Amino acid sequence: MEIKEQINREKLPGHVAVIMDGNGRWARKQGFVRVKGHEKGVGAVKATVEAAAELGIRYLTLFAFSTENWNRPKYEIDALMKLLVQAINNEMESLMENNIRLTVIGDLQALPPKSQRELLKAIGTTSNNTGLTLVLALSYSSRWEIVETCRKVVEEVQKGNMKPEEIDVHSFASMLTTTDMPDPELLIRTSGEYRISNFLLWQIAYTELYFTSTLWPDFTKEEFHKAILDYQNRERRFGLTSEQINQVEATKKKPTK
Ligand code: IPE
Ligand code: IPE
Ligand code: MG
Repeated sequence: MEIKEQINREKLPGHVAVIMDGNGRWARKQGFVRVKGHEKGVGAVKATVEAAAELGIRYLTLFAFSTENWNRPKYEIDALMKLLVQAINNEMESLMENNIRLTVIGDLQALPPKSQRELLKAIGTTSNNTGLTLVLALSYSSRWEIVETCRKVVEEVQKGNMKPEEIDVHSFASMLTTTDMPDPELLIRTSGEYRISNFLLWQIAYTELYFTSTLWPDFTKEEFHKAILDYQNRERRFGLTSEQINQVEATKKKPTK
């Protein structure tokens, strides 16, 4: 049976996050310059977005450019920013056809004005779509986000809009850039690295992690299906015992009269 058919549609993760890594190594292996790997990576983005939309996943967050990536050589940064604009323009029709809403998390203002303009246009055009929400993490890092949120909280307290005792996990989370999204149930990282690289540190507190040695440009729909299936075979315990989890599941399954 195909992997896709083994996926239980009732138990899909609501939010999948992906650290798309390995473009440079893919290019080097083929004897190309790094930028070729980024170009090829766009195809893997397309396949992953399609796979998520087809399954009916609600949120897909893709780590496309980190705060730390600004320290890469200028020509590589320029190429990535150009690719971003190109990809958005090429994919607009398909985003609309597939009812996909585009959003962004990260320090948008740090992006070149042209990238900002194109992104805002695409976000506006797709804003009423009701299918998959595709979240691009651009100029994003989790520590940046957490510090920015602390700043907002302090401002609200200083203005008298919030009392210090009202600061808790829920109010804090509601002020992060991911405010209206559920936490990811599944995080995929490609390229065989076992690290988080400053991505969604707050939000992945109880996320299932999936690592694959596949380099991002080689990532396919089938690989995505494999990750979902792997996730579905895990037991998420949230600090409870296995017996407690089974009890909760059993009460959920009881028919209600
Ligand atoms: C991921 O691939 C893309 C970005 C970080 C923008 P890399 O460019 O990090 O590729 P490797 O890790 O050097 O192979
Ligand atoms: C993480 O990949 C960032 C993105 C995928 C955009 P990096 O290649 O920047 O991470 P490190 O350097 O391997 O930790
Ligand atoms: Mg990398």
